[in-house]
Amino acid sequence: MATERTLSIIKPDAVAKNVIGEIESRFEKAGLKIVAAKMLQLSQEQAEGFYAEHKERPFFGDLVGFMTSGPVVVQVLEGENAIVANRDLMGATNPKEAEAGTIRADFAQSIDANAVHGSDSPESAAREIAYFFEDSEICSR
Ligand code: PPS
Repeated sequence: MATERTLSIIKPDAVAKNVIGEIESRFEKAGLKIVAAKMLQLSQEQAEGFYAEHKERPFFGDLVGFMTSGPVVVQVLEGENAIVANRDLMGATNPKEAEAGTIRADFAQSIDANAVHGSDSPESAAREIAYFFEDSEICSR
């Protein structure tokens, strides 16, 4: 099993619900370590850049609007198979399809306000981590 890093975002809906700690606890209980974290209010430019691969999709404007609607927590999770492990903890993109006990099933309302983001591949993880963090801000432990 490989030790990996993945980029996780606790989105504005979950921050507004005051469930940051509950979500972090799920990562820690699953053996993922938080090796970098910061709370940010994303600018329009930052959100558009982060989601650039989706810019032709019909929901792009809504997604950027949602992600800039309030503060987010961006963080790097580290652990064995962290990318898939995080996606398993998150559950399906659409909370209505998410398995019981997943973060989205428990904390998200809808596909456009779905509580968390997680990188979907090693390539995206590398790009997304570098988008928000300098190497010196990541504290491997
Ligand atoms: S995935 O899992 O990333 O492949 O999902 P995908 O369907 O490609 O969606 C990409 C991101 O867009 C968000 N999304 C939406 N936002 C607003 N409205 C609608 N209808 C919608 N559908 C999908 C989805 O949550 C993904 O965001 P992230 O931050 O990657 O989870």
